[in-house]
Amino acid sequence: MTTSKETRIGFIGGGNMARSLVGGLLQSGHTAAAIRISDPSPEALARLSELGDVEVGDDNGQVVATSDLLVLAVKPQAMRAVLEPLAPSLAQHRPLLVSIAAGLTTTALRHWAGALPLVRCMPNTPALVGAGMSVLYATADVDELGRERAETVLNTAGAVRWVEDEDLLDAVTAVSGSGPAYFFHLMEAMIAAGVGQGLDSTTSRELVLQTALGAARMALDSGVDPGKLREQVTSPGGTTAAALAVFTEGDLLGLTDRAVAAAAARSVALARELEQNDD
Ligand SMILES: NC(=O)c1ccc[n+]([C@@H]2O[C@H](COP(=O)([O-])OP(=O)(O)OC[C@H]3O[C@@H](n4cnc5c(N)ncnc54)[C@H](OP(=O)(O)O)[C@@H]3O)[C@@H](O)[C@H]2O)c1
Repeated sequence: MTTSKETRIGFIGGGNMARSLVGGLLQSGHTAAAIRISDPSPEALARLSELGDVEVGDDNGQVVATSDLLVLAVKPQAMRAVLEPLAPSLAQHRPLLVSIAAGLTTTALRHWAGALPLVRCMPNTPALVGAGMSVLYATADVDELGRERAETVLNTAGAVRWVEDEDLLDAVTAVSGSGPAYFFHLMEAMIAAGVGQGLDSTTSRELVLQTALGAARMALDSGVDPGKLREQVTSPGGTTAAALAVFTEGDLLGLTDRAVAAAAARSVALARELEQNDD
């Protein structure tokens, strides 16, 4: 186990996110034999086996015993019931834990799993198509190699960034975690508006989606601030300026600020609810 490529990676839970990460790991050259997944659902395991010759089964303990890095990929509500029975085996084998469960704090996770080095990750749905934004937080006992290994796994699903303050994950949830839905909502609105201007819905959809992709790619590739890009494409008295004036009149900035604040507050409340179930 000298390189991160050779890290034995285990997954507890073989649903959508695990499948996406396993697919990404295989595509990036990780050896299939170094990946194992447990899940109670034979259908989930069959879908995982289609990705490559990975080890699949329904024995979580077996995966714990044979993994250097263990991705916790079950639903947040299922996590406590999954971790508590595994605690003795986790204490014995001490894999690096990587939780991708939304809202579960490192305190709650370590309460159930034991005080192991833990990386908490907030991915988002585009991870399913390799274009995710994952934000990671590590407990103080995760060393450089542990960070590198966690990053190797999440990198296969898109971009990765670290935060050093766990509380910031509520803001992260409100921006990148829930963010895809904000963009989908804007797309819906623009498609409907295009139809309102006489386009057929197929054409309007194509125009909107390709424009969203192009705008994101321009902002990412150029590194130019989106506000600057907006100015660059807005001629005084032109069509874009006419539309932006309406957005300003409707206080798009204030509205967005309130929406993101509401998501962050809900993230805090949900984490509390999940922890209150931990009696
Ligand atoms: N999907 C996303 O875009 C996204 C984004 C951010 C964060 N996340 C987080 O990623 C995690 C996984 O999400 P997902 O979308 O992949 O969910 P999912 O498709 O429901 O996958 C979870 C899998 O865990 C299995 N499972 C349930 N109990 C288990 C147990 N005791 N031992 C082993 N496996 C068990 C489930 O099997 P059954 O179906 O048979 O119960 C299911 O196949 C969640 O915690 C979620 O918060 C997901």
